[in-house]
Amino acid sequence: MTHRSLNRRHFIASALAASAAAPFLSPLRSLHAQETRPGAAPRYRLDPLPYPADFLKPAIDRETMEIHHGRHHAGYVRNLNGAVEGLDVPANIEHLIADLKQVPERVRTSVRNNGGGHANHALFWSVMTAANQSGEPSAPLMRAFERHCGSFAKFRENFAAAATGRFGSGWAWLVVREDRSVTCTSTPNQDSPLMGPEFVDVPGIPLLGLDVWEHAYYIHYRNRRADYVSAFFDIINWAEVSRRYEATL
Ligand SMILES: [Fe+2]
Repeated sequence: MTHRSLNRRHFIASALAASAAAPFLSPLRSLHAQETRPGAAPRYRLDPLPYPADFLKPAIDRETMEIHHGRHHAGYVRNLNGAVEGLDVPANIEHLIADLKQVPERVRTSVRNNGGGHANHALFWSVMTAANQSGEPSAPLMRAFERHCGSFAKFRENFAAAATGRFGSGWAWLVVREDRSVTCTSTPNQDSPLMGPEFVDVPGIPLLGLDVWEHAYYIHYRNRRADYVSAFFDIINWAEVSRRYEATL
């Protein structure tokens, strides 16, 4: 194993360990409890949305949320459980996708797609809230935007460019990199920055993710992805994103 990959493993492990105390990982703690029963199925679980399906209106409508969570996210969880059946894999979904090379090659693509889908959507629900509760980035996160992006306005510009510029299906991200800088990036399909340099262009700890698959916006916005991205900025749960950032410090 190279020094670099050891460093990355240490970075991912320490960031995940640090963030384990944060409320956003409480669903993952319950997954862990579930995993202590050998052979128990299903292994990974779809948690309910953390708010009513119409909570994010008008940025995201009720029908989109119901289909997105109840069918798309549920499908990723179901397919992931099918892929890992009989395998000894981490109970924590973030640990699973951060170490895909440990997954047998015959199911690695399925775990990449469906495990990524599960982790990405779980994060996505948690980093949104009603517009009147969006708040603002904490002082440490704001300083990180200023230091690494130039300004908060520049972060927004970079994130919107990552979201609108991703061709086809994928995600826009704000991540903390191994050098502790924050940056915006995007991934195709259900890839996560947690998957590491073997799988994504900009590996890191995701703080904020925006689903830009058409299933995330087509009912209300049709093909107007830029309008969806613009509305997303009104419903970012900055308390949650800030908590995720501070867990990596
Ligand atoms: Fe999605």
